[in-house]
Amino acid sequence: MCGIVGAVAQRDITPLLLEGLQRLEYRGYDSCGIALHVQGMLKRSRSTARVAELAAQMKAENLSGFTGIAHTRWATHGAPATHNAHPHFSPTTTHPRIALVHNGIIENHDQLRKELLNKGYIFDSQTDTEVIAHLIDALYSGNLFEAVQQAVKRLKGAYAIAVLCISEPHRIVGARHGSPLVLGLGQGENFLASDAMALAGTTDQIVFLEEGDVVDLQLGRCWIVDSSEKFVERPVKTIQAHTGMTELGPYRHYMQKEIFEQPRALADTLDETDVSLTPQLFGPAAEKVFKQIDRILILACGTSFYAGSVARYWLESVAGIPTTVEVASEYRYRESVPHPNTLVVTITQSGETADTLAALKHARSLGMEHTLTICNVSTSAMVRECKLSYLTHAGVEIGVASTKGFTTQLVALFLLTLILAKIRGKLSPEQETEHLLKLRHLPVATQAVLALEPSIVAVAERFTKKENALFLGRGMHYPIALEGALKLKEISYIHAEAYPAGELKHGPLALVTEAMPVVTVAPNDALLEKLKSNMQEVRARGGELYVFADADTHIENEPGIYVVRLPGQYGLLSPILHTIPLQLLAYHTAVARGTDVDKPRNLAKSVTVE
Ligand code: M6R
Repeated sequence: MCGIVGAVAQRDITPLLLEGLQRLEYRGYDSCGIALHVQGMLKRSRSTARVAELAAQMKAENLSGFTGIAHTRWATHGAPATHNAHPHFSPTTTHPRIALVHNGIIENHDQLRKELLNKGYIFDSQTDTEVIAHLIDALYSGNLFEAVQQAVKRLKGAYAIAVLCISEPHRIVGARHGSPLVLGLGQGENFLASDAMALAGTTDQIVFLEEGDVVDLQLGRCWIVDSSEKFVERPVKTIQAHTGMTELGPYRHYMQKEIFEQPRALADTLDETDVSLTPQLFGPAAEKVFKQIDRILILACGTSFYAGSVARYWLESVAGIPTTVEVASEYRYRESVPHPNTLVVTITQSGETADTLAALKHARSLGMEHTLTICNVSTSAMVRECKLSYLTHAGVEIGVASTKGFTTQLVALFLLTLILAKIRGKLSPEQETEHLLKLRHLPVATQAVLALEPSIVAVAERFTKKENALFLGRGMHYPIALEGALKLKEISYIHAEAYPAGELKHGPLALVTEAMPVVTVAPNDALLEKLKSNMQEVRARGGELYVFADADTHIENEPGIYVVRLPGQYGLLSPILHTIPLQLLAYHTAVARGTDVDKPRNLAKSVTVE
């Protein structure tokens, strides 16, 4: 959600910190700030504008330095205001000894605040973070590393922190628990970041810190102490996070770029299936695990939850495995009945979503040990936590609204379905060949659907003036209607709800008037005639229909019915293709309404807090 970058070097690291912040800005953009050692003092610059403005502000203030920490914030405690922006100072804003940035949430901040107030500390913000800065200052007696080690013992909750001390100008101390933090190694200089991507172009030598690690960065050397206070060596990985991955190219927004990257992303995600359907695609232990399990529990949030909801239809109808899909934030607090032979599948683009990680841990604590993740980030906490994994190869997703992340998850889930069906003798060699052929054709089919963009721009123009919309779908396209509604509300701020079309008459039909656009996902499947009846119910009440229909559905343009026709009929893979026009509808509606498409208000990419 928030982003951290830090650097200790013998050159001006301000441009490097700003560039890192820019790369992390999509994670959280309520405010940003940088603190630096400047001629024996700690100086900072903070802004509620974007990183580009912070850069201009720092230039005007003539701020630069060799050691510094930087942060981009998604507000949890305290409004998005300058006084709540990180870095936070202690003991006072005017004479700071400590500067600190923090990702995560400190749950016992109230209790710590009381203690620190009693000691005479003054709080300038409403954040939970400021207590950490004061706590470290209170514990400091000449060694920042020791003070941080003592302080983190008092913290409850999740944190990744980076800390400066006025008396130690070539040192940054970092620590993590529940929020990611990586160390970047350079030649005589060292870096810290909440994501290796922030350091792309600076270093590719990355150490992934583990839970409870405290790290000491100095010029030309650094060391790590683990949660049992032992010095440890963590493996150094070479990470190919090249800068080009985050460039916009000819596109206006990252979301548009990512929508149009889908043919490539789907092809890359399918790449490893060239030979045949083998369980090992999900990890060396997959075959054994897949033979042991007799039910599936899918845990995910947001768009990833909708991917899981589509997969439920596939897993039950093709592989015959009872499957439940739960919103991770609900599952983790619900009293449920565990079943040991369950395959727990987490779906997460980022691999860092706090609710999904906690739901996984909860499932394990209930004795369900067979865990698999479908994830887009190989180095994420989720991949480390699960026994089995399938990596989608969507590439970095910057737009807050997930697009290629979703469709590549669906491909991975379809492969899982086929492999489980095969193991259970529910997939004949002919069926396997047919499904694989369709999968391999998917990137080309996606390209054909993307070519519908001009007609969707025309539909979006009508949507621009609307404030509400209903989305309808049936069967495995109901989750696609949900996903379409989520995309529209997230980035255009039009209130949108999705229903299984058969539910319309049980309530939402009351909302339908000529002012209510009703988006209908209309594949040419067994439910088409039922769906057409539901569409009639809308037209009879004067509602406008926007129908995304397969070829041969015989749904025609007429007054009040606007049809966008998909070029074909894709059977079980139809949900993947029907997603794309809804992404484009949301995108072009948002563009026409002038919203900040890639950074919608109040949201952030990768929700690493509860
Ligand atoms: O990284 P994850 O897939 O775990 O993220 C889950 C949700 O936070 C995410 O899908 C969110 O709903 C997006 N903003 C949807 O576009």
